[in-house]
Amino acid sequence: MPADKHEVSFHPGGKTVSVRTGTTLLAAARAAGVSIPVRCEGKMGCLMCKVSLDGEAAGVLPAREEERRKLGSSVEEGIRLACQAKVCGDAVVTVPEDRLKRAIRLQLERQKQEEDDFWLR
Ligand code: FES
Repeated sequence: MPADKHEVSFHPGGKTVSVRTGTTLLAAARAAGVSIPVRCEGKMGCLMCKVSLDGEAAGVLPAREEERRKLGSSVEEGIRLACQAKVCGDAVVTVPEDRLKRAIRLQLERQKQEEDDFWLR
């Protein structure tokens, strides 16, 4: 792989894309077909594009001052704004589950558990 290209993997799902140095995680996600909800399109206004970096934030340039101000101490825990974080190496990114999807998944899991319990009686 050329030195200015890097592999970025998105979880859950494990979709991976190869992008150039300086590509934002949001652009990389879109290139990989991974949906990250946004409203402000990268103006640091909505804070909806938060993602979590695995490892010690390897593969992504350090947060600049404005992003640090927006995220506070969560930057130290690997949380970044996908619209601001720029790729500089291979990276593994976790995209938080959408609230609606999470609610539906939990409901389906509960229903399945109730059905399983019913048939085991
Ligand atoms: S897209 Fe709105 S803060 Fe990143």
